[in-house]
Amino acid sequence: MKSSGLILAVESSCDETGIAVVEGGHRMLANVVASQVAMHAASGGIVPEIAARAHLRWIVPVLDEAWAAAGVRWDDIDAVAVTEGPGLAGSLLVGINFAKTLAYVHGKPLVPVNHLEGHLYAAWLDDENRDVAEPIFPLVALIVSGGHTFLVEMRDHLQYRLLGETVDDAAGEAFDKVGRLLGLPYPGGPEIMKAAASATVHDVAFPRAWLGDTFDFSFSGLKTAARRTIAAETDGSGTSVGDSPLPADRVSELAYGFQESVVDVLVTKTLRAARRAGARSVVLGGGVAANRVLRERLADGARAAGFPLVVPRPALCTDNGAMIGAAGARRWVAGARAGLDLDARPSLPLARR
Ligand code: KG4
Ligand code: ZN
Repeated sequence: MKSSGLILAVESSCDETGIAVVEGGHRMLANVVASQVAMHAASGGIVPEIAARAHLRWIVPVLDEAWAAAGVRWDDIDAVAVTEGPGLAGSLLVGINFAKTLAYVHGKPLVPVNHLEGHLYAAWLDDENRDVAEPIFPLVALIVSGGHTFLVEMRDHLQYRLLGETVDDAAGEAFDKVGRLLGLPYPGGPEIMKAAASATVHDVAFPRAWLGDTFDFSFSGLKTAARRTIAAETDGSGTSVGDSPLPADRVSELAYGFQESVVDVLVTKTLRAARRAGARSVVLGGGVAANRVLRERLADGARAAGFPLVVPRPALCTDNGAMIGAAGARRWVAGARAGLDLDARPSLPLARR
């Protein structure tokens, strides 16, 4: 990559305030994340207004900490990268205005980054604990987050062909909704993973939506199956956050059955897509990629099929600034620049079919 490409990156699209300093698209000099998860746990989900205010509150302390950790000077910084979308409008605007101000005051170019591209490029961040240093083209990537679930083929940097996406809920959304039905705290993903770890069998007919030979996904049927099962086994009085309607053993079984169904479909479709594309590696990213069972199952399947799986460590799968720095460096080299009129793009897609 041209020059050192020292990027200061800002991420604020959802409920994490992240600022990082990334060199050459892969080396993290600093990566600081302030998470609002505990704040939103009480309401059982994200309240956009509260999320935006928390970004405002935290963005300066997060910058201060990242800056101190990175030990660089503004003279060394090549560009300021920022998430322009997709995400919550109010949350995005906090990061965008902050990044604009930094770019203007320090006379640096402003580089707009797609949040989903960030999740993909987290796979290029340094990690000595894996088989291959970085993904090899052509590759197939599965991105599974709270708002998005899709499979994409890449034959080179910054080039995407959408193979399939969810037709209803995102995988993370399904985890969060079923978690809530089971009375687990928000966000449901990590809680379901924990609860599922103590079960090995289940007796519920959780559907697997194959949608024919396509690479599309559907997870809304799982919610219905969970709701029906819970209603049949309780008096139907419903639950409040953190208050389960079922005994802990039963919650574990249902969590296990649900997770098996999601993982089975994600792994099967990803491996099929990789074989069809003649992929030389598979990339996994997004918050749900922090799920241990998904990581292990996809790694085993990919190894058996002869291509390595590249998946960032869990803290780099969930939202963070470093992933925006990794994608931002590529965009900066490619000449992407934004003016001070950069606006939030809440529904920005990564690619079209
Ligand atoms: O990528 P991310 O941090 O934010 C978005 O861009 O959406 O993803 C958040 C999602 C949430 O739905 C959360 O429940 C899920 O990732 N998640 C998990 C795990 N950790 C986070 N899902 C399953 N297993 C996990 N361990
Ligand atoms: Zn994300």
